[in-house]
Amino acid sequence: MKAIDIRNKYLNFFKSKGHSIIPSSPLIPENDPSVLFNTAGMQPLVPYLLGQKHPSGTRLTDYQKCVRTNDIDEVGDNRHLTYFEMLGNWSLGDYFKEESIAMSYEFLTKELEIPNEKLSVTCFAGDEDCKRDDVAYEAWKKVGIPEERIYFFGKDDNWWIAGEEGPCGPDTEMFYDTGKPKCSDKCNPSCDCGKYVEIWNNVFMEFYKDKNGYSKLQQKNVDTGLGLERMAMLLQGKETPFEIELFSPVMEELEKLQKVDNIQSRRIVAEHLRSSMMIINDGGRPSNVDRGYILRRLLRRMTRHLNKLEIDLTKLPEIIDISINSLKELYPELDSNREEIKKVIIDEKDKFVKTLQNGEREFEKVANRTKNSGKNTIDTEAVFNLYETYGFPPEMTEELAKEQNLKVDMSDYKRLFKEHQDKSRLGSDQKFKGGLASTGEIEIKYHTATHLLNAALKVILGEHVHQKGSNITAERMRFDFSHGAKMTDEEKQKTEDLVNEWIKSGLDVTVQEMPKEDAVKSGAECMFIEKYPDIVTVYSIGEVSKELCGGPHVKNTKELGHFKIKKEEASSAGVRRIKAILE
Ligand code: ALA
Repeated sequence: MKAIDIRNKYLNFFKSKGHSIIPSSPLIPENDPSVLFNTAGMQPLVPYLLGQKHPSGTRLTDYQKCVRTNDIDEVGDNRHLTYFEMLGNWSLGDYFKEESIAMSYEFLTKELEIPNEKLSVTCFAGDEDCKRDDVAYEAWKKVGIPEERIYFFGKDDNWWIAGEEGPCGPDTEMFYDTGKPKCSDKCNPSCDCGKYVEIWNNVFMEFYKDKNGYSKLQQKNVDTGLGLERMAMLLQGKETPFEIELFSPVMEELEKLQKVDNIQSRRIVAEHLRSSMMIINDGGRPSNVDRGYILRRLLRRMTRHLNKLEIDLTKLPEIIDISINSLKELYPELDSNREEIKKVIIDEKDKFVKTLQNGEREFEKVANRTKNSGKNTIDTEAVFNLYETYGFPPEMTEELAKEQNLKVDMSDYKRLFKEHQDKSRLGSDQKFKGGLASTGEIEIKYHTATHLLNAALKVILGEHVHQKGSNITAERMRFDFSHGAKMTDEEKQKTEDLVNEWIKSGLDVTVQEMPKEDAVKSGAECMFIEKYPDIVTVYSIGEVSKELCGGPHVKNTKELGHFKIKKEEASSAGVRRIKAILE
């Protein structure tokens, strides 16, 4: 069954069950700067899940264009996609678990004709926030799923929320058994081995989570999501989404044009091209920030992999045409915007090609520097910089280095790259979760280091030390404190050493809420007590520091690295200033 047929069957089925078909929202959410792209069908519906009346009623269905970029580096394997389409149906305070499960089962077995034996399901196992979902369990048994194919798991598997805060609840997930052998005796639907493929998620949204915990929503909702490409893949008996009709023509063309065979590169090109086209079509343009940066990354990565396949870049317009042609049934708008989409992609490709030339010049400099210093391995930092600033793939740096009898330490590069990736993943996760958080990972570290410095100064200089001001950037921290004299070199060294000792000893950072008076009584440090609300948050670092503070902080001081005082100077009468860095 083709993707378009699955989509049509889905919408018509739910229409026949009293649902209104609503249009897909643009990939770039309207009036919501807190997320980069729509990542789930429920996202544009949040106000209605919270109780606002939807003009189309209490039963809705749609297809939603989604982009998830957390796993961008995994694309190229046999399953990850950055763009996908999610089919969904919603009950806004209308039907609940039993009816939702009965409809899902009917759709899967009658409309898509999936045999009962191919289906396994999972339900929420229960914990202190919400009891075991016996209602879902009974509903599955009632429609005919035998007990041995109904599994219970905890929050990690059977609880759904978009990010950290919002409507949420236990879910029940449906899995398709591919017929592959079990990978072990313990193999079950939560296993990643590929035997079971998740096909549909029904979330029973009756809770709201915020930083104080869970509360009940004013209505019980159902939010479901079914991945279109994955379903098409399974129904067509394919092993990967790249073999279905949305990708296969472009995959075949790439194979024809390539001079070097690399299936991962072909998948990356096909996937990133589709994702980019969808983003451009909904108004995204390449830039260096946020959505634009994601689009830029997708397009540059695509270009690099075209280079890897040694495909002539002048063939790009034809490749775009083929991709649009195989997608236009699903998204006729791609066809109408064909020329504009092509222009944006080709312009960005041209820019990147120039960047690559600059990169070659920079490479020459780096190579000469390496030789002049008598080394034969290029500094990993320089390799990384060539990638980050000049978009110069490390494999290419390695190849060029070889021609000059130089080496690249690829495993060291991978270490550094991973370090960076973890950081940026954290950054983008925060963006998805916490809206426009301006506090990056490095600022958070400096924030925690500020508390440690404050505590250390009290030990080394005396209890008269109090914070008078603080300023943090991604490059350094600045800390003003009460103290009447210039610090001696010995005092500075001791302070630095003490902070580093605490960092090394891996102290946990914990947070508590308490009435302001109790916080003061407990000896928590604070700058302007009168400025705080009646209930305050207190951050403690092991036993060494306790301060009133809004956070955020790292979880453990080990994350901070090495602390170094760069400067100690006068700030104003009786106030000294320290500038320090983490390295
Ligand atoms: N919102 C749910 C999901 O994305 C259905 O899985």
